[in-house]
Amino acid sequence: MSFRDDLDRAAEWADGYLGRVATLPVAARVEPGEIRARLPQAPPEEPEPFEALLRDLDEIILPGLTHWNHPRFFAWFANTGSAPGVLAELLIATLNVNNMTWLASPAATELELTVMDWLAQLLGLPRGGHGHIEDSASTATVAALAAARTQKPGGIVYASEQANFSVEKAARLVGLEFRAVAVDDEFRMRADGPFDDATAIVATVGTTGTTSVDPVRELAGRCAEHGAWLHVDAAYAGAAAICPELRWCLDGVEEADSVVVNPHKWLFTPMDCSAFWTRRPEMLHEAFALVPDYLAATQDAVDLKDFGPALGRRFRALKLWAVLRWYGAEGLRSLIREHVRLAQLFASLVDAEPGWEVVAPHPFSTVCFRHVEADNDELARAATATGDLFVASSRLRGRPMIRLAIGNEQTTEDDIRRSWEVLRACAARQ
Ligand SMILES: Cc1ncc(COP(=O)(O)O)c(C=O)c1O
Repeated sequence: MSFRDDLDRAAEWADGYLGRVATLPVAARVEPGEIRARLPQAPPEEPEPFEALLRDLDEIILPGLTHWNHPRFFAWFANTGSAPGVLAELLIATLNVNNMTWLASPAATELELTVMDWLAQLLGLPRGGHGHIEDSASTATVAALAAARTQKPGGIVYASEQANFSVEKAARLVGLEFRAVAVDDEFRMRADGPFDDATAIVATVGTTGTTSVDPVRELAGRCAEHGAWLHVDAAYAGAAAICPELRWCLDGVEEADSVVVNPHKWLFTPMDCSAFWTRRPEMLHEAFALVPDYLAATQDAVDLKDFGPALGRRFRALKLWAVLRWYGAEGLRSLIREHVRLAQLFASLVDAEPGWEVVAPHPFSTVCFRHVEADNDELARAATATGDLFVASSRLRGRPMIRLAIGNEQTTEDDIRRSWEVLRACAARQ
């Protein structure tokens, strides 16, 4: 068997999967341990054909997977492993360069700096600082808080009570105290409280719970008062700024010290790709730069290992490059606009139905809603158990609600209407 034959088989598998994923049950229907019990307990002694792996992928693994690339996957933040992303991942593994320093692969470093500048332009972010790609927003926030601590050791990290838990985790990792700040009626962090002994404030643009947008500009003012670092977590909603009419969401970000946006959430790039910019590269450098004997720096070159926790770095820029070129800015804008339109349509269906309510503003592609009488956790579970869609329940001010997050390229109006009918039918059966 040649590599070329197996490449064809893998291509056929990928194409076939993407063609039929919409017909599969969205969420896995297995019990813990079930898949493991079906896998051999020991590795093979002899080489096996790749075809055998593909067979097991279909027969054993697929039934135990939840299909994130399904058009009716609406849990957490939905995303897309797009065609250019899939193709680029193949090339990334083929090249297998480690983009730790400029010398380790000059073009990989320079492409990363270039695509980060492209993305900054598309989102209307200030240019001229430093931007690189991390594996996750969690890691980017660790990097930001490490820089904040270098600037001002000790002290407190403030973020909204609606911030993603990765902020508290990052604070813990860099040894800073974390304090949650109350939110207003629209779930935005209040900027008028005390920020005593602040080392950093993390503002969220698009909170995980409701996609609320914290008042970034006011928080920048509070950071200035305290000599604190302002990090903006725009992991999900930052992508919306590619559309001029949604650019308000990043208003004030030019005053932030750092910002993260996840192309692997709402910018059609497969996991993993988190875009992280700072206008204070010297502080990141101070936090992270160490030059061991075996990794000499190159004069006038940027060594990306000096700006974050990891040494070994994947060639992630290649997939972002592929995505930006495949769709073009206009292609990306029309996808984002369509998702926002579909979310507004879904919210209007909920609003119009007696016994249901929308529970938070929904400026992007995510709608939080609930049935006023039903057990909403059970409702989300029952709707998901149909296999037709996947929604997850959460809590807002202690009350159960359901989130419907749109982010897959293949999602259509039919998917939204069909999902709404499934939810209504499940509520009627409760
Ligand atoms: C607002 C926000 N920030 C950060 C994260 C963490 O992102 P990652 O999984 O890239 O670490 C999430 C994840 O959903 C999020 O919603």
